[in-house]
Amino acid sequence: MKTAEIRSAFLDYFRSKDHTIVPSSSLVPASDPTLLFTNSGMVPFKNVFLGSEKLPYVRAADVQRCLRAGGKHNDLDSVGYTARHHTFFEMLGNWSFGDYFKRDAIRYAWELLTDVFKLPKEKLWVTVYHTDDEAYGIWHNDMGVPAERIVRIGDNKGAPYASDNFWQMADTGPCGPCTEIFYDHGEEIAGGPPGSPDEDGDRYIEIWNLVFMQFDRAPDGTLSPLPAPCVDTGMGLERLAAVLQHVHSNYEIDLFAHLIKVAAQLTKTQDLGNKSLRVIADHIRACSFLIVDGVLPSNEGRGYVLRRIIRRALRHGWMLGVRGDFFWKMVQPLVEEMGSAYPELAAKQTFVEDALRMEEQRFGETLEHGMRLFDEVAAKSGKTVPGEDAFRLYDTYGFPVDLTADIARERGLSVDMAGFEQAMEQQRDRARAASRFEAKGQMPAELASQLKPTEFLGYETISGKGSKVVGIVRAGKQIDQLGEGEEGLVILDRTPFYAESGGQVGDAGTLANGAGRLDVADTLKMGGVFFGHAGRWHGAQPLRTGDSLDALVDGARRQSIVLNHSATHLLHAALRKVLGEHVTQKGSLVAPERLRFDFSHFKPVSRDELARIEDLVNAEVRRNAQAEVHHMGYNEAIDFGAMALFGEKYGDEVRVLKMGEFSTELCGGTHVGRTGDIGLFKIVGEAGVASGVRRIEAVTGAGALAYVADEEQRLGELSQLLSTSGDDAVEKLRQLLDKQKKLERELESLRAKAAGSATADLASSAHNVDGIKVVAARLEGLDAKALRDSVDQLKQQLADCVVLLAGAADGRVSLVAGVHGKALGRVKAGDVVAHVASQIEGKGGGRPDMAQGGGNDTAQLPALLAGLPGWIGTRLAG
Ligand code: ALA
Repeated sequence: MKTAEIRSAFLDYFRSKDHTIVPSSSLVPASDPTLLFTNSGMVPFKNVFLGSEKLPYVRAADVQRCLRAGGKHNDLDSVGYTARHHTFFEMLGNWSFGDYFKRDAIRYAWELLTDVFKLPKEKLWVTVYHTDDEAYGIWHNDMGVPAERIVRIGDNKGAPYASDNFWQMADTGPCGPCTEIFYDHGEEIAGGPPGSPDEDGDRYIEIWNLVFMQFDRAPDGTLSPLPAPCVDTGMGLERLAAVLQHVHSNYEIDLFAHLIKVAAQLTKTQDLGNKSLRVIADHIRACSFLIVDGVLPSNEGRGYVLRRIIRRALRHGWMLGVRGDFFWKMVQPLVEEMGSAYPELAAKQTFVEDALRMEEQRFGETLEHGMRLFDEVAAKSGKTVPGEDAFRLYDTYGFPVDLTADIARERGLSVDMAGFEQAMEQQRDRARAASRFEAKGQMPAELASQLKPTEFLGYETISGKGSKVVGIVRAGKQIDQLGEGEEGLVILDRTPFYAESGGQVGDAGTLANGAGRLDVADTLKMGGVFFGHAGRWHGAQPLRTGDSLDALVDGARRQSIVLNHSATHLLHAALRKVLGEHVTQKGSLVAPERLRFDFSHFKPVSRDELARIEDLVNAEVRRNAQAEVHHMGYNEAIDFGAMALFGEKYGDEVRVLKMGEFSTELCGGTHVGRTGDIGLFKIVGEAGVASGVRRIEAVTGAGALAYVADEEQRLGELSQLLSTSGDDAVEKLRQLLDKQKKLERELESLRAKAAGSATADLASSAHNVDGIKVVAARLEGLDAKALRDSVDQLKQQLADCVVLLAGAADGRVSLVAGVHGKALGRVKAGDVVAHVASQIEGKGGGRPDMAQGGGNDTAQLPALLAGLPGWIGTRLAG
């Protein structure tokens, strides 16, 4: 049975048992900051288990793409060393949300494996959690599994509930006892049954895990019951395929056979069983799907896990002898294998290829050097690679430490991880010391504990009377008052000032009362929920905690910010329409003067694309749609079509900004009433800022008009200089440039002619010194290259000669000397140049037959040149 057929047979079976079939969700968990990646099929259903989300069905089944690299479940280090570990894999799962429980879960699993997939019963073993007599009874009495093939597994991982048969998604969250089904690959494979000392062998392989979700685990480790007991099962598609295709390794199933074959071709490897081919075949799946799901290689978080996997694959390619890029070429065969089950992969093929190629080129430059350094280090360091060397490999050559550990492991060495961490920590300290802005916006903990979050009035208004000063902070410390001319951060109980967040800069303006005024230059978020007004106090009396202030935001500045912020949303939507859905926000700055938007994309945006993006945004501006603000739950907002940012943490209730049918985004910023307020949108710049990240800068409203007026003025000046109208300016300029090119060519050939006749004159005026012809002359306006050409010509004409030419221009002199024929060995060109240069405040040197130098155009020069034959004469005589 092919892998694709197994996928469908699984879903068909559960469909016939009234399960709703749901599509695989992303490898990046939608709104779960506790988790790096979707590491099992249950992740998308976590909130359903916890009771905070309701679904319209109580039974479901799916094939979920999963990643176990980084985080709690991490198999990265095992890939390549066993027959069954993967970073990326597909998990077949069925769920009951408070509907059926242990008995039906076990019955379905047994029926599917033995009736539908026809696995021999005597080849199947099961494990249960040691105290789960109920599950034991169902297996033994109802399914008829003999006692010798049912194993009870206790807390075998060193703590209560830490067991192979007690499953938890992460350190917190839903968990419960489980029962696992194993397949016996036969006695020719090494390994013992589950629970035995050699259970880690490849003979008995777990294929299906049925978890009875009953508890929610709190950060302190306590378990509390879930609202309703649920079932979560997970069966590795690759492992099942190996069983059904009668092979002993996952890497021999149909899907991998193809990937491994292509990897072997690309790396010119004969032995299809080579471990590195398996690593490459595994890693291309993980890397491609991560990129499909919006992750790009970077130095932190998910992006760093991706980078580590890519670099690990590249190092294996290198071991096989590859010295150029190859890994990205594995995307095409992957699409052939998995594109129909995952259309999103096929749709983003080019993007994935581009992303991988960039990373390959980047790492390719340092891999070779890094490997050399590793060899040196390994040769001198005995059994352990020192931490500092691992750090140097990381810092200078981009070797993630687990990559270094992997290389070390292959050679029977280990890495001093503690030493590496220490070196990392020292670098962090240096970086911290270098950051002078650390104290900016720091909220004293004592003050934070006394205050309520600042109430923000700025969505409705830009002014407000009678806000109370609840705290004043300077350099991270609370102070009592601000005297005349003193600066500080003033925290109010409520304020219309927007504090910098989500890319939108903080408001400026004034806070005033009868006694004086605070000129607010910026507003910062402090401790997440307090608004600090940064400014200088001017007043007859000091400003004190408890005082009351009237607030007035700089309205024109705020309005410019608002236009730029709303335009940013329209730009984001237009980019996705024109460039594709792979565009995700990577950074944003919304300031009064301009907006800056960074996004994932691998090529420069062409002029034509920029024009289309600008047109789309301006069309939305003219449509003048109402900007609507909605408040709703996070999941509701996602259903509503709102764009959320990966990795951003959102509260339970979110604010959604919708502009017409064009843009819907989660956003806490301040926005226009109608899109028409933006007036005009102009892109003023496009550039690359990092690997795979582009930046667009744009202006709006009055700023855009000023930009256009500026351009017009420039065009006006240009036309005036060209004595033509704006319409003809381009044509006129083109003609002028053509003409200039022609003139330059003419000038060049005239110069060559002039130099030719000058050398002819010089040749005839050469002095004869002891059988050697000596020429020393000054040529006006020749640069060093023209001088060299002339010296070469003279050498040809004069045969046995010493030539020195001085080209003068703008007070500087270039010197070129040549020695030829019989003169060689008697006089050195370098000495000739040095002799003259040293007397005109310059220097020079070179080969015996050709040398160059320079100096100032001083009064001595003519005499020096005239005296050269004499000087040569004394040298020849000496
Ligand atoms: N969530 C369970 C697992 O991943 C089924 O093994």
